[in-house]
Amino acid sequence: MDKPTDRPGTRASQPLPNEPVATPCFVIFEDGIRHNLKRTAEACGGIERFMPHVKTHRAPWIVKLSLAMGVTAFKCATNAEVEMVLGAGAKAVTWAYPTVNPANVHRFVEAAKTCPDAQLTGMVDSERGFEVWRAELKNAPDNIKLRIDLDPGLGRTGAPMDETALKFARAVHSIGRLSGWHIYDGHVKGSREERRAQVLALAEKVRGLRDELKKEGIDTDAIAGGSYTFDLWPADLATFVSPGSWTYSSAQHDIELADLGWQPAAFVLATVISVHKGTATLDAGCKAISPDKPLSERFRWNGRIILQNEEHVVVESDDLRVGDRVFLMPQHACTTAYMYSDALVKTSSGGWEHRPQLGSAR
Ligand SMILES: Cc1ncc(COP(=O)(O)O)c(C=O)c1O
Repeated sequence: MDKPTDRPGTRASQPLPNEPVATPCFVIFEDGIRHNLKRTAEACGGIERFMPHVKTHRAPWIVKLSLAMGVTAFKCATNAEVEMVLGAGAKAVTWAYPTVNPANVHRFVEAAKTCPDAQLTGMVDSERGFEVWRAELKNAPDNIKLRIDLDPGLGRTGAPMDETALKFARAVHSIGRLSGWHIYDGHVKGSREERRAQVLALAEKVRGLRDELKKEGIDTDAIAGGSYTFDLWPADLATFVSPGSWTYSSAQHDIELADLGWQPAAFVLATVISVHKGTATLDAGCKAISPDKPLSERFRWNGRIILQNEEHVVVESDDLRVGDRVFLMPQHACTTAYMYSDALVKTSSGGWEHRPQLGSAR
């Protein structure tokens, strides 16, 4: 039988595992993550300023690797991520999700109780949220602080950057829990210079809030930014910056953020199960590669992506053969990683290992 093809244009230089691998399979290259982490820490201006968002990978071994490489603080979106990060040994965890659900807050407080030597931080962006936190924190340990989540124009969560935000900050300060501000500016796109101008305008507003509280004797700092802005936020204001998708990069970041020098480090290994005139069918349907992007952009492909159902994808191809294996580079690696509770990792020592990750657990 012919050897399967490692499809050029995806990760041509990487060998396929020798052992049989069930597909679709989420494949991670550890060397790529180490490389991306180093590049990102440099772009942060120092690893001490780097607060990676773990929602991208949800993998305890990557948290341990990050700790070993000098990362000290992590950002999470869900309680399962918070617990996973604490379990991996992290001592500073920010839950960047201003929930108003008492059950969710309660679970976070319980996690803090089990790790008295860790510092946990939650978010407030509404009166209701503040009341829920206040009630849940009544008898909680003092290793829980709160930040005020600000809306920099993304329009998703966050208080308006005006008197409203100051009011929440003063309220949180009054219960002895205020640590500062949180800003996620995922809407900021464009050329580097365009992004810089937008970030500097936002930073001015946050500075205004900070200075206003300073006059009242209240010190605050900020956590800001994602992949498109983390290296543009002024260091005097943003103590921490928090990109997430540096971990695996993606078909999109590979092009739009090429200056950061990230390497694509996660792929979906798929098998060609059928070929037709000018097309090939692979076992990477939308339960294997996230369908949250338009069909034509879900993964990098040299040709058209014609159809993706739950377990099949049909692509334009005139050279693939039945049985070929192909590395597909997702456009959105975070939502693809989320579909797998196990990843096949090419380790830095050269072997292949299956490693667990949270998958879709919340
Ligand atoms: C609150 C928050 N912070 C940080 C990030 C990381 O941003 P990025 O995925 O652009 O690296 C995200 C991503 O959605 C986010 O929601």
